[in-house]
Amino acid sequence: MTVLQDSSIGPALYSSAELSETVDRLAGEIAADYRGKPLVLLGVLKGAICFISDLARGIAAKNGPELTVDYVCVERYKSAGFSGSPPRLALDTRQPLSGANVVLVDGIADNGTTLNFLGRLLEGRGPASLRTCVLIDKHAPREVDLRIDYRGLRAPNCFVIGYGLDYQEQYRNLPYVAELREGQTV
Ligand code: IMP
Ligand code: MG
Repeated sequence: MTVLQDSSIGPALYSSAELSETVDRLAGEIAADYRGKPLVLLGVLKGAICFISDLARGIAAKNGPELTVDYVCVERYKSAGFSGSPPRLALDTRQPLSGANVVLVDGIADNGTTLNFLGRLLEGRGPASLRTCVLIDKHAPREVDLRIDYRGLRAPNCFVIGYGLDYQEQYRNLPYVAELREGQTV
């Protein structure tokens, strides 16, 4: 296993083999559900970068539908206290989503605010269908309603890094998922 030497990287939670097994399973589920129906895989930047690129190739490997990849980016400023300020769309899709089959892809769901916000926003654009796919579902308290249609792994409620997920913009290129070492302030 590749190990970046850094004191902020805590114990490994999911190895790259476990991640690719999980992505393969999710790709199989999506490929089966959308066979013959063109699909838009809509990644949430930046945490979905590794996941969506493996997922898109996994869907092709399972003889899934034709698909296009697009992105949105949601920003939240932490200045408003622990829960942060309300989410804001910082980057929109390049294509209209009206009439499209959309799967929203995120690396992690924490309290669910981001995906709940995006779900409500995108439903307003009249997609033919809208589902959510999350690699890591954190065991976190949720005050909002969040339906996850394709769920990868359930994680404890700790801060994790790697495979696209960052701590202060670092560690996205870690090929496995690790806990952030205790003592780091999130
Ligand atoms: P939510 O809105 O609380 O569900 O948080 C979702 C967003 O917060 C994700 O898209 C990530 O960008 C970020 N996030 C939440 N938990 C973690 C974590 O453990 N590691 C890295 N990023 C996280
Ligand atoms: Mg982040």
